[in-house]
Amino acid sequence: MKPPAIAIDGPAASGKSTVAKLVAKELGYTFINTGAMYRAIAWYLAQQGVTPAQREKIAEMLPIMPLDFGKEGTVSTVLCAGKRLESELTEPVVNDRVSLVAAIPEVRAFLLHKQRKYNESEAVVMEGRDIGTVVFPDTPFKYFVTASEEVRAARRAAQGLTDSISERDKNDRERACSPLTRAADARVIDTSDMSIEQVVAEIVNDIKAKTQTLA
Ligand code: DC
Repeated sequence: MKPPAIAIDGPAASGKSTVAKLVAKELGYTFINTGAMYRAIAWYLAQQGVTPAQREKIAEMLPIMPLDFGKEGTVSTVLCAGKRLESELTEPVVNDRVSLVAAIPEVRAFLLHKQRKYNESEAVVMEGRDIGTVVFPDTPFKYFVTASEEVRAARRAAQGLTDSISERDKNDRERACSPLTRAADARVIDTSDMSIEQVVAEIVNDIKAKTQTLA
């Protein structure tokens, strides 16, 4: 039997990364941050002087990029030529371009395969925009984590980041390929007035209840 996959989707700064990490810890599953995968590609392309408009060139480069998507302990990692990417992933050029890069169908197809591969051998909590709709459409564990625009902007500012999340969300929602949208069977959690602990508890309890029903 395939190991379980927990899908956590939502807009930027909705709190889904923090929540997904804690849910993974509580369940003992591996946490996979798919935004970091798109960010790594956006960063590498910028390093190479390639803009998101150069779709054909990007499609050619994908299979030969020196990027590795692995994990350390129970957390996903992205490496470039063996070096772990961290602060690079939130550089201004990445924040500006990542949603344009993530709209390229070839990029999405390339990463879809790698994202599904993580779940072949282990249980995962995967966080992103299209996990419940495209990556694991058959999982019974789907959560759409959201918060009001004001709360999300405040959370972003508290992280010291000043990128325009509303513009990025607009791009993510309006793209033709795998847009940010709630799966019809996802449980929606508005975190605007909730603590992180409350959100984690709601998701973990729901997973446990569903697991018992499905057993
Ligand atoms: O979660 P994040 O802010 O790090 O995501 C960065 C960008 O990548 C964001 O603009 C949306 C895109 N993304 C996506 O299109 N699909 C995913 N599964 C994850 C992220």
